[in-house]
Amino acid sequence: MRTIKLYDGTPLPVMGLGTWAMGGRSNPDPSQDKRALEAIKAALEIGYTHIDTAEMYANGHTEELVGQTIRGVERSKLFITTKVRPPNLSYQRTLASIDGSLQRLGLDTIDLFLIHWRDSTPLAETFRALNEAVQAGKIRYLGVSNFDVDEMKESQELSETPIVTNQVPYSLTTRSYVQNGVIPYCQENEIVVTAYSPVEEGRLHVQQVLEEIAAVHDATPYQIALAWLVQQPWVITIPMSHNPTHLQQNWDAAEITLTSEEMARLEALG
Ligand SMILES: NC(=O)c1ccc[n+]([C@@H]2O[C@H](COP(=O)([O-])OP(=O)(O)OC[C@H]3O[C@@H](n4cnc5c(N)ncnc54)[C@H](OP(=O)(O)O)[C@@H]3O)[C@@H](O)[C@H]2O)c1
Repeated sequence: MRTIKLYDGTPLPVMGLGTWAMGGRSNPDPSQDKRALEAIKAALEIGYTHIDTAEMYANGHTEELVGQTIRGVERSKLFITTKVRPPNLSYQRTLASIDGSLQRLGLDTIDLFLIHWRDSTPLAETFRALNEAVQAGKIRYLGVSNFDVDEMKESQELSETPIVTNQVPYSLTTRSYVQNGVIPYCQENEIVVTAYSPVEEGRLHVQQVLEEIAAVHDATPYQIALAWLVQQPWVITIPMSHNPTHLQQNWDAAEITLTSEEMARLEALG
């Protein structure tokens, strides 16, 4: 698997696993647990090491399912991202949120911790807690999500360690974070763009161009949509799937090499 190196040389694989809707959406749905556990286990067997989750997903239950699946897996083979949600961005609540995530994941350290999205809490307050948690060894790297360029710059000033990613919606047809300057800003400043909803939550619009390119590579249109993302500098992605075939296809998509002409044709779909 291709990787992007963080500022200290740590390799981050370009293909990770998303977990939104695993084990429930806003609330836990235990009827979905078996399916979610099997999917995460299948992903680990395929070779996925980066798992993206959040305290918001199924109100903490998704983190519990991730924790259950990774128990016993060699820690160095995992890179776990989770996120604090508003309204937990105050100093005290952020600290409590970090401890809650650690406990549900069954970890001593979260690899990457993100502010899920902003509310009216001053960023300085949240970063006071985040910096402390990094100092205490509870978090390795800090990042943000759904932040615009000004919010990113403020975060970079407030964070005592480099902001390693901004996790934003990005796909063949969703280009709002290119238009608002965030993706170019990340690429110019060596910050990882983590593309979420990379296959439009399973509703990828399959146009003829996509079908033609997929046929050339003996791949599916979904694989080409992912390959187009991760072939761009500083871009990684985290598609979610419960389906073992899709999990394997998404993993393999990172190995597809698109020509510059194909990249340009796909770029034009936006
Ligand atoms: N930071 C944020 O605010 C934020 C917001 C949204 C998402 N996220 C993160 O990003 C992850 C990915 O985004 P997402 O879950 O919204 O959407 P997504 O990954 O674009 O789409 C997931 C859907 O696509 C289907 N799918 C996946 N791979 C496929 C393939 N190869 N062929 C056909 N269908 C495929 C899945 O169905 P099957 O199960 O049938 O494969 C699933 O229904 C989330 O899980 C979450 O971790 C973050």
